[in-house]
Order: sequence, then structure tokens, then C-alpha cells
Amino acid sequence: MLDIREVDQEIVGDPSAIARGRIDIAGVSVVFGKVPDQTVALEPTDLILQPGTFTALIGPSGCGKSTLLNAVAGFVTPTEGCVRVGKRLVERPHPSVGVVFQNFALFPWFTARGNVMFALKGVAMPRQDREKRAIEALKEVGLAEHAKKFPGQLSGGMKQRVAIARTLSADPDVLLMDEPFGALDAQTRLRMQELLMDLWSRRKTTVLFVTHDVDEALRLADVVYVMSPAPGRIIRKVPVDLSRPRPVDRMGDDFLQLRAELMGLLHHSND
Ligand SMILES: Nc1ncnc2c1ncn2[C@@H]1O[C@H](COP(=O)(O)OP(=O)(O)O)[C@@H](O)[C@H]1O
Ligand SMILES: [Mg+2]
Repeated sequence: MLDIREVDQEIVGDPSAIARGRIDIAGVSVVFGKVPDQTVALEPTDLILQPGTFTALIGPSGCGKSTLLNAVAGFVTPTEGCVRVGKRLVERPHPSVGVVFQNFALFPWFTARGNVMFALKGVAMPRQDREKRAIEALKEVGLAEHAKKFPGQLSGGMKQRVAIARTLSADPDVLLMDEPFGALDAQTRLRMQELLMDLWSRRKTTVLFVTHDVDEALRLADVVYVMSPAPGRIIRKVPVDLSRPRPVDRMGDDFLQLRAELMGLLHHSND
């Protein structure tokens, strides 16, 4: 099996600050249910994501992508192995790890601002400061003028912007995204990818991004991990050495080559 645990890169600067966004997945497997109705969702997986990197995880439906992401988020407890984010052993969800889902998960009875403020409920700060921070986060995703609208008054792309603002307002070290743009139309999806690149290049949060769209993975990621069909395991690491930014209308031969490689891996993994 492919050994994808890497030797630590040399850490420059303040090591404790840098290590905060490191994700260490060590021998993590997930089995749901009890004998005889067990589902092996994830075979033992080892993976280290360095702080500030952008990693995409692709694979066929049901191969365990969400399960792996949920184990990092602390929503799923590994059957074997453990996950660390920075120095912290993941045992439950934690504000240093932000999660964005496909279905936005907004409260319909709160405004955009209210939704972001709700996420800051646990943070010890006066209401006024929470309000200010929520507005700043909405500004960051280009939604300042829509702060008082309810989710029902917003388009899909705008709802997802609110969800991203909500997550970023807590200033996480790590951002986990589970097919976040999967429900959006093609045009909106491209704009959201640009927004995400913009946010990431400014914040340098460690991102783990699940998608089954090869083009999306190649537009965004430093490295793509490919999973096999269920029971899932990582079968290949594909570094994406394409210069940034990566405008969609200027994807050259390197891009096409990587695309063919990934398509091939996904196709053959289905055999
Ligand atoms: N809470 C759960 N209980 C039982 N089985 C689950 C649960 N979550 C996921 N599974 C199963 O685990 C496997 C992997 O699912 P998932 O991680 O959602 O795949 P993906 O995100 O790649 O589509 C699937 O067979 C799915 O049915
Ligand atoms: Mg999934």
C-alpha cells in the first residue's frame, strides 16, 4: 500500500503557531454498525496535511470521503487510529476546525448576519463585537449589503457565502469542505472557487476539500488524493504543480495531462 506519511518539512518561524494548522491522520479506519451488519467506510488511512496547504480528496460516491472528513471534524470517532489537528487529539468538534457542507446548513429564521453571529455564540465577547465580527466576515465574502436578508431571500451561491463567512468568523486553523459547491450551477461554482482561492491565499488556512469533480480539484489544490471505491482507501497522491492563479480559460497542457491522469485513476478504480 502507498505510504503517504511524509517527513515533516523544515519549519521556519514560530513552530507552535505553524503547527496549529497541521492535520495528522494516523491509522484511521471507520467501521459503521455491528456484526453482521457492518460497513467498512474507511480502511486504515495515514495522511499528513502540512499547515497552510490545500488538499483535495476525490473518489467515487460512497468511498468514504465524507467519513474521513468527519473523522477530522470530530463528528465520527475512528474505529482504529487517531486524528490530531495541531497538538490536539480530535475527540469532538472544536472551533479551531471549521466545516462547510454542500447543503449550507443555515438557520432559515436568522438573517445572514444572525447566522454568522450564532456561530460566535460560544466566544466570550460582547454582543456588539460579535455583530462587528459577523459583518467583517460577511464583507470578506462580498455580502456586506445582504447582511439583513434571510436565507430564503438569497441565491445558492450567496447562501454558501454566508456559510463560509460563518465558518471563517471563528478564525479556524483548518477548513474542511465537503463538496461545498456541488449544488451550485457551473457559473456560480467557478465564482465560488475564485472566492475560496482569494480567502485561502490571504488566510493560509489548511484546507481539506472533498469533491468528485476533477477540474475543481485541479483548479484549487496543491495536492490531490484519490480514493478507491468502497471500502475506501487512498490509492494515489497526485501533486498539482500548476502555477497560481489558475484561471479557467487559461488551462494549458500540464492541466490536461493531470486531468487525464486523475480521470484514468478514477475510471480504473471503478473496474
Ligand atoms: N452514519 C453512518 N452509518 C452507517 N453507514 C454509514 C454512515 N455514514 C456513512 N456510511 C457508509 O459508509 C460508506 C462511506 O460513506 P461516505 O463517507 O458518505 O462516502 P462518500 O462521502 O465518499 O460518498 C458508505 O457505504 C455509506 O453508506
Ligand atoms: Mg460524501
